[in-house]
Amino acid sequence: MSLAEQIDKSKVPEHVAIIMDGNGRWAKQRGNQRIFGHQNGVNPVREVTEAAVEVGVKYLTLYAFSTENWNRPQSEVDALMELLVNTINGEVPALLKNGIRLQTIGDTNSLPNKVQAKLQDGIKQTSKCKTLTLILALSYGSRFEICEAVNKILTDFKNKKVNEGEITPAIFQSYLQTANFPDPALLIRTSGEERLSNFLLWQLAYAEFLFTPVLWPDFTKEEFFKAIINYQSRERRFGKISEQL
Ligand code: IPE
Ligand code: IPE
Ligand code: MG
Repeated sequence: MSLAEQIDKSKVPEHVAIIMDGNGRWAKQRGNQRIFGHQNGVNPVREVTEAAVEVGVKYLTLYAFSTENWNRPQSEVDALMELLVNTINGEVPALLKNGIRLQTIGDTNSLPNKVQAKLQDGIKQTSKCKTLTLILALSYGSRFEICEAVNKILTDFKNKKVNEGEITPAIFQSYLQTANFPDPALLIRTSGEERLSNFLLWQLAYAEFLFTPVLWPDFTKEEFFKAIINYQSRERRFGKISEQL
């Protein structure tokens, strides 16, 4: 039985989030510049996107650039931005063909204008797609997102749209950039690092975590299927006991 066939289609996580890590180390192992790793990180994005469609995942969030990544050497930041522009440019027809709606989270206003324009174009062109929502986390930082939510609440308080004592988890989450997406049920991080690096701190409160030593450029459809199978072997109790489930 193939890996895809081993997946129980009735228990597929609705939302999977991935921290795509290890591009630099992958390149270094081959005696190459870090950017070579980033270039080779594009194909696995295609692979997981296709795999997500195949098994019926509805939302896929990919951590592509963090607020902290701005602190990398300028040459690497520039090369990453260039890669983003070129990739988005080339991928829109494939997104449309596969019914994939593009969305972003993060402080996208801080991205170069060229990147912003390509993103807006991709988002607009794919807005009617229904099979999968692909959410790119770009210049994303969870603490920034949470502070922004608090600032929006304060503005609404000043305008009497929200009152003291009214904030519940459901209302708070409606102020986050992920307001229209369900929480991820599964978080995957590649490259052996076992940390969140400021990714979706609120939204991952009850996610299953899967850390794999595979470096991102080596990540394949099969690795994604294995992660789903692993996820399906776990018991999600949400505070209850087994007998109650
Ligand atoms: C992940 O790979 C991609 C980005 C953060 C943009 P890294 O560039 O972090 O690769 P390593 O962790 O240095 O190997
Ligand atoms: C996290 O990876 C950000 C992305 C994958 C985009 P990093 O490689 O930047 O994380 P740290 O700094 O090692 O925690
Ligand atoms: Mg890294």
